[in-house]
Amino acid sequence: MYFEERAVSTHQDLIDRDRKVTFHASTHLRDFAHGDAPGRVITGGKGISIVDKQGREMIDGFAGLYCVNIGYGRTEMAEAIYKQALELSYYHTYVGTSNEPLIELSEKILKLAGMGMSKVYYGMSGSDANETQLKLVRYYHNVLGRTEKKKVIARSRGYHGSGIASGSLTGLPTFHNHFDLPIAGILHTEAPYYYRRSDAQAGMSEREFARDCAARLEAMILAEGPDTVAAFIGEPVLGTGGIVAPPEGYWDAIQQVLAKYDVLLIADEVVTGFGRIGTDFGSHYFGMRPDLITVAKGLTSAYQPLSGVIVGDKVWQVLEQGTGEFGPIGHGWTYSGHPLGAAAGLANLAIIEREGLTQNAAETGAYLQRQMQATFAEHPLVGDVRGIGLLAALEFSPDKANRAHFAPGLKVGPRVSAAAVEEDLIARAMPHGDILGFAPPLVITRNEVDEVVARAKRAVDRVTDELVRSGDFKA
Ligand SMILES: Cc1ncc(COP(=O)(O)O)c(C=O)c1O
Repeated sequence: MYFEERAVSTHQDLIDRDRKVTFHASTHLRDFAHGDAPGRVITGGKGISIVDKQGREMIDGFAGLYCVNIGYGRTEMAEAIYKQALELSYYHTYVGTSNEPLIELSEKILKLAGMGMSKVYYGMSGSDANETQLKLVRYYHNVLGRTEKKKVIARSRGYHGSGIASGSLTGLPTFHNHFDLPIAGILHTEAPYYYRRSDAQAGMSEREFARDCAARLEAMILAEGPDTVAAFIGEPVLGTGGIVAPPEGYWDAIQQVLAKYDVLLIADEVVTGFGRIGTDFGSHYFGMRPDLITVAKGLTSAYQPLSGVIVGDKVWQVLEQGTGEFGPIGHGWTYSGHPLGAAAGLANLAIIEREGLTQNAAETGAYLQRQMQATFAEHPLVGDVRGIGLLAALEFSPDKANRAHFAPGLKVGPRVSAAAVEEDLIARAMPHGDILGFAPPLVITRNEVDEVVARAKRAVDRVTDELVRSGDFKA
């Protein structure tokens, strides 16, 4: 019955049914439920493109939510998951129970990471992995008898998930407002966002600005009391907060402060892990020495939900000491170390290695950055063109020289994103600011980059014309 219904449904039928029954993430719930916001049903994908129920094909310039790194429609992935499901579809990993793909995957992840990493704990999403991080940080300091050292410093515009604790780490107002977040004990320091530096910082070089960010972090630690600050969490490259690579010298300066006050560093590599910026981990790129690492997305290229907390040796030793004193650790999810996730992770990492996708992210990523600069640096609507590897962003401004903002009501970012869809290109309107984000699958070729940039250019031009016509912008 289910399959028969699927066969006869039209795109519109499906959307109408969906409006009645589904609660969608990050959606205007009323408008969607009442037919005032568009819907779309995706039915397939191949390479860097997806197709909807009407047969309309679009280039996915954001790899889903920067996760389908090996591209869509990989038969090898389906086969690996199927084979594992036939053999062992599930067993838990509590009390030392394991499965073969999991053991192999952990070995592989630790080898790729290096940096003194010791063990991997598994979850299903980036949000739950960051919940685990917060618990480990508390446990670590409790074992060491530092019962006051519990606060965690994150950054404005950071994104770490949308649970109660992970959403508190996130530094974007949309994820806090009306949810009574952030919870106590989670603080936010300056975002390493050079383009949006304050007027007082306007004359600073990138290096000076980086030192200023570190000085503000130090001032926050001193104001709170170093004995109360447990950990600092950051994405190597800010993602959802605007796709912003850090200013030169940023991570060195931050790490000096963290070392001085014995504050753990959690690198949230949910986006940057497994190749996106041209290195296996973003931490490698920036010379970071994290104590703990969060991974998800690119670990399986989203063929299965799987996340991981990679625990460095320094923390691991203390966790062992703690269980020696208190008994087995009181932490676990039913699906930790799920064999289907592990099988998908192994097959995905094998594809990345065999096809040299990390190298492609470096090389084709550099090409993407050059084409974006060549096409948009002088565009009247574009205030900033930025990126690293296969992450890129355009930030729109009505007055480049003064880095001015458009009135939020004009919704310039979402309008350019909608215009891109008209060109059969998905590029994401980032949730805070008029920013259009790009994060294509790592399999993208130079010709495909040209196509992405050409479609984006037509979309930006179209919205520029509209804004000029409505008198909201002078080109
Ligand atoms: C850096 C980072 N951390 C954590 C998360 C949360 O991951 P999830 O949506 O799988 O819970 C995301 C999601 O975009 C992310 O970008």
